[in-house]
Amino acid sequence: MEHRAVDFDEFAIRAALGGLPLGGLRVLSTIGSTNDEALAWAAEGGADLSVVIADEQTAGRGRLGRTWRTPRGTAIAVSVILRGPSDPLPHYSRLAGLGAMAVADACRSMGLQASIKWPNDILVEGRKLAGVLVESAWTGAALEAAVIGIGINVLEASGPPPESVRYPATSMETSLGRPPIRAEVLRELLSALITWRTKLDSDEFIAAWEKRLAWRGRQVALLRDGQPPVRGKLSGLAPDGSLKILHEGRLLEVSMGELQLLATDDGSH
Ligand code: BTN
Repeated sequence: MEHRAVDFDEFAIRAALGGLPLGGLRVLSTIGSTNDEALAWAAEGGADLSVVIADEQTAGRGRLGRTWRTPRGTAIAVSVILRGPSDPLPHYSRLAGLGAMAVADACRSMGLQASIKWPNDILVEGRKLAGVLVESAWTGAALEAAVIGIGINVLEASGPPPESVRYPATSMETSLGRPPIRAEVLRELLSALITWRTKLDSDEFIAAWEKRLAWRGRQVALLRDGQPPVRGKLSGLAPDGSLKILHEGRLLEVSMGELQLLATDDGSH
């Protein structure tokens, strides 16, 4: 895959990530999408915990076919290859939570209180700070590896123009009142991801993801393509990371969709 070689603080990034047990590291000045680069690398045999970081994305992708902006010098765009010891990759359905928890922990270490809008949007002060996109690399019918792509708005200039967003956005700089150093955020992020990855199969993992969920106990609607919305009380997570919604006395488990807080929710639990 074509890409221009590094010019963005590669030295600082490599120094900050030194000591982490990464499978490999590519630091790029600009790329279409770090997820595409990581998927191509995985297909060529890229090792577990190989990481692609770019200063700028020109064709960044979000969930549900949306675009994701990563203007040069303002944000974190990173993708991590995960490869299981066996095929299929265990606990695939928990990987969205893994990325989201890593961001939430990185936020906390920078002094920001974050929550996770299920499945994998990270909110700070009720606004979206980061998103996670999990994709798979296949060889024929076999799942080769998964890629967790994470985009974080670090500086104010990284956010999308307000008129183009579906959900209000924020950045670390906006909430902290100062610009954090991207290399430091990356270190916290990847170190949290590596730690939680070792607990991916544990009950502790689901409990921690659940604890960080936004809108627990609140009235929400889950929107799904081509299906009627599910409305009810956000109750928690099932072991596979599905969302539990209490709807007319029945606990429903849903694995896909987009959450909204219902306007009728009065905030009391
Ligand atoms: C979303 O909220 O819709 C998910 C956004 C994920 C964006 C990240 S940035 C790094 C990686 N490369 C991409 O093209 N997308 C993900």
